[in-house]
Amino acid sequence: MSFDTTAYNRQMTHFDGHDSVWLFGYGSLIWKADFDYLERRPAAIRGWTRRFWQGSHDHRGTPEAPGRVLTLAEQADAVCHGMAYRIAPRVFEPLDIREKNGYLRVVTRMDFMDSATPATAEGVVYLAGADNAAYLGPASEAEIARQIAASHGPSGPNRDYLLNLAQALRELGWDDAHVFALERELNALEMAHARD
Ligand code: SIN
Repeated sequence: MSFDTTAYNRQMTHFDGHDSVWLFGYGSLIWKADFDYLERRPAAIRGWTRRFWQGSHDHRGTPEAPGRVLTLAEQADAVCHGMAYRIAPRVFEPLDIREKNGYLRVVTRMDFMDSATPATAEGVVYLAGADNAAYLGPASEAEIARQIAASHGPSGPNRDYLLNLAQALRELGWDDAHVFALERELNALEMAHARD
């Protein structure tokens, strides 16, 4: 699969005829909602866990020195908390471009974490599978943190992606062992660097 998934995502017909579609965000879509939405609700998807296993050649790194951003990995019994947005279908146009580096729109069920209705909905999540060209895959948390500390791209330093996410998860009251371990590793690296 090529790096640019935009054209592929444009072929999705699953929600044709719908006035609005729920989008589940688990990464930058939690803390950087720079798109129009009709409604925003905390939500969770089941059977998936957040992992910094996707390369970023276009936002938080470069083709020569990719950064690391999130995708989802399948894990039985896992619950991934995030933010759901009800969007007009036209909003997928800019989103497909933002998520073009290997992410595919995938249909998912999400459970809302608030008490409003409906309690659950079918919607879309951008998922970067292990078969995409920008996929980097697992590495130790120390290694991932080192790569994040060293990477910069057109959207800014890779560290900001991680730290903004950790802060957003904390504010929302959600634990995520992988993200908080990486935050600790990154803070330690930056403190050591500041002492040098
Ligand atoms: C998401 O946030 O849902 C997708 C990954 C990202 O853009 O960080």
